[in-house]
Amino acid sequence: MKPIKVGLLGLGTVGTGVVRIVEGHQEDLASQVGSPIQIGKVLVKDVSKSRSIHVPDHLLTENAWDIIDDPEIDVVVEVMGGIEPTKEYIMEALDRGKHVVTANKDLIALHGREIKAKAKEKRCDVFYEASVAGGIPIIRTLMEGFSSDRITKIMGIVNGTTNYILSKMSQEGAGYEEVLQEAQQLGYAEADPTSDVEGLDAARKMAILATLGFHADVSLEDVEVRGISRIKKEDIAFAKKLGYEMKLLGIAERQDDQISVVVQPTMVSTAHPLASVNGVFNAVYVYGEAVGETMFYGPGAGEMPTATSIVADLVAVIKNMKLGVNGQRALTPYKEKKLKSDEQIAYKNFILLHVEDKAGVLAQITQVFAEYDVSLDSVVQQPNPNNPDAEIIIITHYASRANMNKVFEHFEQLSVIKSIKSAYRVEG
Ligand code: NAP
Ligand code: HSE
Repeated sequence: MKPIKVGLLGLGTVGTGVVRIVEGHQEDLASQVGSPIQIGKVLVKDVSKSRSIHVPDHLLTENAWDIIDDPEIDVVVEVMGGIEPTKEYIMEALDRGKHVVTANKDLIALHGREIKAKAKEKRCDVFYEASVAGGIPIIRTLMEGFSSDRITKIMGIVNGTTNYILSKMSQEGAGYEEVLQEAQQLGYAEADPTSDVEGLDAARKMAILATLGFHADVSLEDVEVRGISRIKKEDIAFAKKLGYEMKLLGIAERQDDQISVVVQPTMVSTAHPLASVNGVFNAVYVYGEAVGETMFYGPGAGEMPTATSIVADLVAVIKNMKLGVNGQRALTPYKEKKLKSDEQIAYKNFILLHVEDKAGVLAQITQVFAEYDVSLDSVVQQPNPNNPDAEIIIITHYASRANMNKVFEHFEQLSVIKSIKSAYRVEG
């Protein structure tokens, strides 16, 4: 039987896993798709580099056009990363009628619309399961598993690096810088960790999930982002004391077709299943009007988990080829994007204030909340022998972001408040 030929762009961590799975699971894969799958050519930057997997020399190339222009190659698997020249390679491959599987969340979040339009025009598949939460099949779940439901909330721990750092800070009471350094030494965090720790990686993934879950074209600029680099170990200690874990959560919500998507450090109640997701693991919680609460958990990165998703996409492409239905799964957003205003976004808040320790201070503070219609869930004064000021911890009920902003502005003018030490969203 004629094999299906795959051109692999990249033979790094994920590319190596793809070769291992295609070779190691060959018999099962061929039984499922009805043809052998063959790695036809592999693009690398440096063919002379020593590799952890043997790929015959004649398959390796430093010239992408050896793959893009090869009429024998049916599917291009892109695992080289980056935006350019990667985007050009993908667009040119689609132009030549080749299907594309990619793990590249940056490219899909930034140029997904253009790439999907080209794929539709050329009746090609573009699948990108591995781009969000590595080994968790969350994209197929949103597109197919929940196609009958109306999703109203997606909350994700979609960045393993930051979850590792926050878990360590929580478990060991360690500071951010110390744990970041350790994560870099262990290879969990990159030498330049900005994209992970400032929440950009998570924001790209949440833009992809929100687009699929809400059927509206959510772009990166629509995602409000705050990373973890300013979280203090004291904040995490307070969170734990009150029954919360600090997590970098991506939260996408929809009410009456109004959408909001944020990535921000969030205090998650220990009763919520997301609170116990630790280390480099990822999890995505999805709430559907009909199904209710669901959660998907697993490895968010790594050679074999990520390659599992890539090869599953490859299987889907080949099955479509056999049926002659490629290019039909691309779900074009069909709802107009309407973003919520600050008046429409509401959540519970944790606030830590340092205030003058004298009579009447608490009354002044609660008066400000009352003025902006913010109801309080709890107020605790925390004794701290090292601090002559009083430490006040406040947890609000649901309050609109607009009203909370007014509260914070008012606090800046209140002389009894020495500083607003911390403020976090609370979930669960
Ligand atoms: P990687 O280990 O850095 O591998 C990149 C590969 O692409 C290398 O083989 C490199 O060649 C090749 N390459 C890069 N730029 C090239 C260029 N301009 N021309 C030719 N070849 C080029 O990357 P990775 O960790 O496998 O990640 C690949 C993609 O998967 C990225 O989009 C990433 O975001 C995504 N992803 C990764 C993970 C993960 O766990 N690593 C998880 C989910 C998604 P050389 O080998 O010769 O240097
Ligand atoms: N840097 C990402 C993470 C890798 O830490 O989750 C997977 O996309």
